[in-house]
Amino acid sequence: MDGRELVRSIKMVGSVQGLRAVRSAWRQRRTDAREATQRGTERARVPGQVTGAEPLPGGGTVRFARAELHVCVTVAGAVFWGWDGAEPLPSYALAGLPPEPDPRAELEPDTDGGWRVVSERVTVAVSRHGGIEVRTPGGVVLRRELPPRWWDRSAGGPARWVQRTEVAADARFFGLGGRASGPRLRDGTYRLWNTDPGGGFGPADDPLYVTMPVQLVVADAGTHLAFHDNSWDGRVVLREGEEGAGSGHDRPGTSELRMDGGPLRCWVVIGTPARVLHGWTALTGAPVPPPSWALGPQHARWGFGSEREVRRVVAGYRERNLPLSAVHLDIDHYDAHQVFTVDRERFPDLPVLAKELRADGVRLVSIVDPAVKAERGTAVYDGGSAAGAFVRDARGREVRGVVWPGECVYPDFTDPAARDWWGGLYEERLAQGFAGVWHDMNEPVSFAPFGDTTLPRSARHRLEGRGGDHREAHNVYALAMARAGFDGLRRLRPDERPFLFSRSGWAGMQRYGGTWSGDVSTGWPGLRASLSLVLGMGLCGVPYSGPDVGGFDGVPSPELYLRWFQLGAYLPLFRTHSAIDAGRREPWEFGPQVLEHARSALAERERLRPYFVTLAQLARLTGAPYVRPLWWGAPEDRALRDCEDAFLLGDSLLVAPVLEPGTDRRAVRLPRGRWYDTATEQAYEGPGQVLLDAPPSRIPVLARAGAVIPVQAEDGHLELEAWAPAAGRTGGGLVVRDPGDGWGQAEVERYTSRLVDGEVLVERVTDEGTAEPAWAVRARGAGSVRRGRG
Ligand code: GLC
Repeated sequence: MDGRELVRSIKMVGSVQGLRAVRSAWRQRRTDAREATQRGTERARVPGQVTGAEPLPGGGTVRFARAELHVCVTVAGAVFWGWDGAEPLPSYALAGLPPEPDPRAELEPDTDGGWRVVSERVTVAVSRHGGIEVRTPGGVVLRRELPPRWWDRSAGGPARWVQRTEVAADARFFGLGGRASGPRLRDGTYRLWNTDPGGGFGPADDPLYVTMPVQLVVADAGTHLAFHDNSWDGRVVLREGEEGAGSGHDRPGTSELRMDGGPLRCWVVIGTPARVLHGWTALTGAPVPPPSWALGPQHARWGFGSEREVRRVVAGYRERNLPLSAVHLDIDHYDAHQVFTVDRERFPDLPVLAKELRADGVRLVSIVDPAVKAERGTAVYDGGSAAGAFVRDARGREVRGVVWPGECVYPDFTDPAARDWWGGLYEERLAQGFAGVWHDMNEPVSFAPFGDTTLPRSARHRLEGRGGDHREAHNVYALAMARAGFDGLRRLRPDERPFLFSRSGWAGMQRYGGTWSGDVSTGWPGLRASLSLVLGMGLCGVPYSGPDVGGFDGVPSPELYLRWFQLGAYLPLFRTHSAIDAGRREPWEFGPQVLEHARSALAERERLRPYFVTLAQLARLTGAPYVRPLWWGAPEDRALRDCEDAFLLGDSLLVAPVLEPGTDRRAVRLPRGRWYDTATEQAYEGPGQVLLDAPPSRIPVLARAGAVIPVQAEDGHLELEAWAPAAGRTGGGLVVRDPGDGWGQAEVERYTSRLVDGEVLVERVTDEGTAEPAWAVRARGAGSVRRGRG
């Protein structure tokens, strides 16, 4: 037991829940010990010498003395390779069939007895010992995989394997799902096992709820994404390289991936960051845009306690004229914490509450936990049991764990029939008047005072009919739950885009919805971690997310709350939320000053709603996250790669949140080009760093010169805010209007901007040429220009 475990177990002892949890933890340890096969002192297997090769569409098979490699370059430019018969399918990550092989990519002999596949966008070279290089068309190596090593278990267990990779000395690593210490992933070990940290977490806590073997690597030579499609437990050890290390030679960056089992197969996408994310979401699915209301401000709390309190909070927003899009009900509105039930005493008439709130423009969102109380005579348990929907052990008994309602069973979301059954249960939520769902505790969690707080590794899962155990199913459990919920909601309300976001997930979860930070701890480090998570998830293809504004636990100082609120206003999911024993999170609870500044942040969010709608639609079309690291458009700018305290919101805005107490000015690093401080309209010239005012009333936000941004004018109409391009330059922007909450295809309007006689001219680009913009234009930004330094 480590310290954290000790605290956990001490906290639990004494409660009935605690005793159950202790029993459950021992049970888990016992079963896993029984099932585990002995690890011998085997020697690693390596591919050995190349023995031959055979062409196939897009590449071919290269044979080695003790292994076989299939390499394929696809039409989209994504590269696939798989060892020992591993193919792209089956896969939980892929959105459908893998892309077709590129018919022009052919396997040919390389120097030194190796083989290579050359295509227009990428070259893959396989060495005679089974190393693999991914090179740009110009021949620069982006990624070098050393020959893998396997430890095959004689007892028929899975083969563990290790894959060591080298990247350029200047490369930076990002991604791996939601990591609190990033966005830049520094030297260290990152585990691939979705985990509830069991309380408020900060930057040092790893792993968290969403882990993914998805790595984005940014180097001078180019950007690439590597995805090892394998859901087993694993670890990634990262070490950044060093230029001019020992005797002037570069030391490459390294990434070592150790997996406990599962296939060794990998996808690599190369190109600009935008191209890489486009390729990645082409492979794993377009991010589903949330309904537009979910781009507005939302308020949640664990422990509203009653309908009256919900009404009181909503009235508080209304009376103060603060916008509010949705209220989220947590487990305390359930009957005895049981999913798909309502505590009728404290929430006597949810449908009426929902209707009344709706009339005020406020939607209700419901938490949905996967664990079902193991109690005969309750509808959900009986239904699931009859459908054979719950996870079982090797002897066919339902596996039990402990969650909020007590002893629970877990739907096996890797079983299509169980998904169907579960999806149907959302009818009850819709009937209660909920407009969206918030999936929680789906790592999945079983409380335990020690050991892993999840299901036993030996728990059996259907895995779409293939059969397997929790070692393989764990990391895709929440992804499959999201699929069940999303498909269920679509069946029940075919004309509406479901609103779904989930605490845990895996590669491809953007097909069903978004995510949120989970229980980020209240404090300045938690604020920083919030941004890291949103950026990291965006780079893994999941653009819709955001933190618990104000932090999950405790009581934020007014200053911390305000700075969190100001950051949240520029993140896709903008939601205050907190634990049952935490302080208040309503904007008026921190004094009149904070209220006024929060009001401005809310007003700015509302003003930018058309921009957020545009970004949500563009994410669907292109895979580009709304929230992007500063290096997005300039990955070659090394200073930007290391900048972690600011971000781009779409192409047009740069947001520099205040992440430290006592700040009224902050340094902001600018990418190349001209940027306007949106508050003062002062222009700055990047690249370089500038010092900007960050008074309590606002955080610095800059607009790119030339940007055309759709905003909501005071009269409620859409308006184009056009920032003056620098002399001799042009600019532009895209507008995608709200297509409603259904599946209507949104039209993309394209605008250009230029200076004509010192005035900003905005034109709409059409198939025929240019036209008058469809909207009123407000020109901004003129006057003197200051240069950034360094
Ligand atoms: C988990 C969630 C949190 C929620 C709580 C009670 O801790 O992360 O958001 O409030 O459970 O349901």
